[in-house]
Amino acid sequence: MKKSRSAFFCVPALLVAGTVIGLLIGRACRAQGGAQASGAGSAAPRTADSTIQQGKYLAAAGDCASCHTRPGGAAFSGGVPVITKLGTIYSSNITPDDQTGIGAWSLDDFRTAMHDGIAPGGRHLFPAFPYTSFTRVSDADVAAIYAYLRTLQPVRYAPPADSLLFRQRWAMAFWNPLFFKSGRFEPDPRQSGQWNRGAYLVEGLGHCDACHSPRNFFMAEQTSRAYSGGTFDEQVPGGQTRRWSAVNLTSSRTGLAAWSVDNLAGYLKTGFSLRAGVFGPMNDVVDRSLRNLSDDDVHAMAVYLKSLPPQRSGEAAPPKAAVTAGARLYSDNCEECHMSSGRGGLFSAPPLSASAVVQAGDPASLINIILYGPDQPQDIKLGGWETMKPYRNDLSDAEIAAVSNYVRGSWSNRGGTVTPADVARQR
Ligand code: HEC
Ligand code: HEC
Ligand code: HEC
Repeated sequence: MKKSRSAFFCVPALLVAGTVIGLLIGRACRAQGGAQASGAGSAAPRTADSTIQQGKYLAAAGDCASCHTRPGGAAFSGGVPVITKLGTIYSSNITPDDQTGIGAWSLDDFRTAMHDGIAPGGRHLFPAFPYTSFTRVSDADVAAIYAYLRTLQPVRYAPPADSLLFRQRWAMAFWNPLFFKSGRFEPDPRQSGQWNRGAYLVEGLGHCDACHSPRNFFMAEQTSRAYSGGTFDEQVPGGQTRRWSAVNLTSSRTGLAAWSVDNLAGYLKTGFSLRAGVFGPMNDVVDRSLRNLSDDDVHAMAVYLKSLPPQRSGEAAPPKAAVTAGARLYSDNCEECHMSSGRGGLFSAPPLSASAVVQAGDPASLINIILYGPDQPQDIKLGGWETMKPYRNDLSDAEIAAVSNYVRGSWSNRGGTVTPADVARQR
């Protein structure tokens, strides 16, 4: 399993604040001495089993395992590389080991990390850890996750050291006031309990925005365009990175307009619906996180997502000539399953017409599924569909670009033009 996440911040502009640096580092170091002594120790009172079970459920909702369990490593012991524009950062060991994990952390220490992105000693965490979403999680739910994590077997493992730039943790002291607002989720009294539950899960533990929202120059999420689609890099075995585009989740025509609440809930819970099946990074999100949630909770998430105001993205069809050039490739390679109508079939494949993946502003995920196939985990079954094979050995970059333009400009689809260079970048 490959794993990693996107780029998040940009220090250069912050470097301008040079004179303050010395002061800040000094302050951080002094704070460290004090906080080390505040560890919880092991004499914490026993926590009720129901709280621990609740914590386990919530840890699944937060997908802690995807980012904190490296391939072949002990669960939650960290060391997963997360790719950013500044280099690679490794996730922490969050098992209760006193030296390399969070064994010495009090509940307060843990809450401050989840809500404010600050570890004991005033050590600023980077938003590759999605505290920018987790800040919305209630105190009670954070406490339950803490109780659960304390029941894990302590594992002595120190993740690889951060690259040089990532030792510049003080920079977050500038980033946070500009781009981060600490605060718990506030229910909207005009909406139903179900909508509020869905909003709480999507915006908080689900951190769907971490991948599905576009980011600005400083790698902060653009709140005004939330959920209209994002792009990030993932590390694949062999040390290479692969770019992905996370689709527009709003109900615009290049997003989820064609999906019903039930389509969406079914996709989140089982990995597929009549609209689409999971592939790429969504494999892990569904496999490790969403499929463990109750039907009520995934339904609530779908209700909330379907209520998001449509946000445009992409919405430019490739030129006619580019579309026509791919017609033959489509009928030779794709039509038997996705049909000439682009509507797919109950026993063959999902529709490509109105697909958010096909129309995404950044074609990375469309190119990836053609190059590499869907590559789902074994335990996710896509109903009665056939298996789509990888085409990386059968089609050239130019051919994949041509067939991509065909599906992006046919039926009523409106995705931008794909070039052979776009495809080459994904190899
Ligand atoms: C998108 C990936 C991602 C997800 C999801 C994630 N984490 Fe992390 N987490 C990280 C990374 C990366 C770091 C290291 C950040 C740093 O060093 O600044 C980290 C650090 C932490 C830390 C700080 C520990 C320390 O000493 O540095 C805690 C606590 C933590 N995560 C808990 C959790 C919990 C609990 C969940 C699930 C509710 C979770 N994380 C989900 C990526 C993730
Ligand atoms: C690690 C990044 C990441 C996270 C976190 C994430 N997604 Fe995705 N998502 C993607 C990518 C990449 C795609 C496009 C590939 C695919 O469809 O599998 C995608 C696709 C989707 C699709 C469209 C599927 C299709 O084929 O049209 C839906 C719906 C979706 N995600 C919902 C969610 C929800 C809800 C959450 C939060 C619970 C979430 N995602 C969290 C990366 C992510
Ligand atoms: C043997 C049947 C078959 C053939 C042939 C086939 N596909 Fe697929 N395709 C599928 C199945 C099944 C899925 C669902 C897999 C998943 O998303 O996990 C799929 C998914 C997709 C998706 C993702 C749609 C979405 O919204 O999530 C795209 C895009 C796609 N195919 C494009 C193509 C193209 C382009 C070709 C021809 C080069 C092609 N497919 C050939 C069966 C097929």
